[in-house]
Amino acid sequence: MVNILGVVGSPRKKGNTSLVVRQVLKGAEEKGASQRILFLGDVIIRECDGCHRCWKGKECSKVDDMNRIYQIINKSNIIVFGTPVYWYGPTALMKAFIDRFVYFNCPENRKKIREKSAVLVIPFEEENPAAADLVVSFFEKSLHYLEMKLAGKICIPGVTKPGEAGKNKAIMDKAYMLGCEAVQKADSKGNIRNVL
Ligand SMILES: Cc1cc2nc3c(=O)[nH]c(=O)nc-3n(C[C@H](O)[C@H](O)[C@H](O)COP(=O)(O)O)c2cc1C
Repeated sequence: MVNILGVVGSPRKKGNTSLVVRQVLKGAEEKGASQRILFLGDVIIRECDGCHRCWKGKECSKVDDMNRIYQIINKSNIIVFGTPVYWYGPTALMKAFIDRFVYFNCPENRKKIREKSAVLVIPFEEENPAAADLVVSFFEKSLHYLEMKLAGKICIPGVTKPGEAGKNKAIMDKAYMLGCEAVQKADSKGNIRNVL
């Protein structure tokens, strides 16, 4: 079975990111995936300080929730990264989460992330799609570096109030389809065999 993990990097649990990430998970579930959602605002993720203990086959030195979250990531075939645009970048919650992917940057741990699929969900207030460019680029470069596969992305301009994205049928349909397609791709590529 394909496991999909939705990661919500907005502190607003009922905000636009959450709504659209959940819609991707709904599509994935429709195609038989097992889904799980992680609200980064609910967990403690401290800063990576580059101690590189994780590169020596040990647990991360930080005493927080991330050692538990690594286990959830390891079991996931697809990760949906959802973050609103905050000052043209990802939220601090999402940045701290991705910083901790240094864990996967050693031969021992790289196999735990390599070939996993990713879907991006990025809502923002401005109407100009270019407002999301830096966030998209941040993810594209980081995913490429980690040897992950970008299965799809959905940028949602012009949304401010919590839940506003839900009124846009085209966006909600696209999110649902991305969830369906990501599962189909993971299945056909045999990515599910990479789960440890
Ligand atoms: C601290 C902060 C910074 C933001 N910076 C931007 C920005 O640079 N560009 C933009 O278009 N929207 C910006 N926004 C608006 C959010 O991206 C927008 O409200 C989004 O829909 C919030 O998603 P959420 O409902 O999932 O929290 C910012 C919002 C906050 C709170």
